[in-house]
Amino acid sequence: MEKSLVLIKPDAIQRGLVGTIITRLEKVGLKLVAIKMLHIDKALAQCHYAIHKDKFFFNSLVNYITSAPIIAIIFEGKKAVEVIRKMMGATDPAKAEAGTIRGDFGLDIEHNIIHGSDSTETATEEIKLFFLEDEIFSY
Ligand code: RTP
Ligand code: MG
Repeated sequence: MEKSLVLIKPDAIQRGLVGTIITRLEKVGLKLVAIKMLHIDKALAQCHYAIHKDKFFFNSLVNYITSAPIIAIIFEGKKAVEVIRKMMGATDPAKAEAGTIRGDFGLDIEHNIIHGSDSTETATEEIKLFFLEDEIFSY
C-alpha cells in the first residue's frame, strides 16, 4: 500500500490544529502507521527541503520549520500521496480552495500548516529521513 510523509508544521501545533488535521486525513480512510513529535535541527530541515536550496526562500523556510516542534506522520492508503496533496490544497493558502487544509487554516505561504510528499519517490526518501523501520507499524 502507498505511503506518504506528512509534517504538521510549527504554526499548526502552536494554534492547536493537530487533532483537526489528523482527523481530516483519517476520515478519508488514510491509515496512520507512524507518528512522532520532534524539534528538527537545521541539518534535517536542509536535507528535507534540499530541492529548494537555491531558492530565495530557502533560509526563511529552514528557519521556520526549525523554529518549534513539528509532528511527523506516515499515512498509508490507496493513492495516499495524491489524496493528501489534494486535501492540503495549493502551497499558498491565499490560492488554496476552501475546504482544503491550507485553504481553511493557512495564514501565508510560509505558515501553510502542512507538508505532504509530492510523489511516491520523494515519499520513500522523506520517510527514511524521519523514521526508522521499527517505528513504522503494520496492522
Ligand atoms: P511542502 O513541500 O512544504 O509540502 O510544500 P509544497 O510542496 O506545496 O511547496 P514547495 O514548492 O515544495 O515549497 C516548499 C515550501 O517552501 C515555502 N515556499 N515559499 N515565498 C515563496 O514563494 C515560497 N514558495 C514556497 C512554502 O512554505 C512551501 O510549503
Ligand atoms: Mg514540496
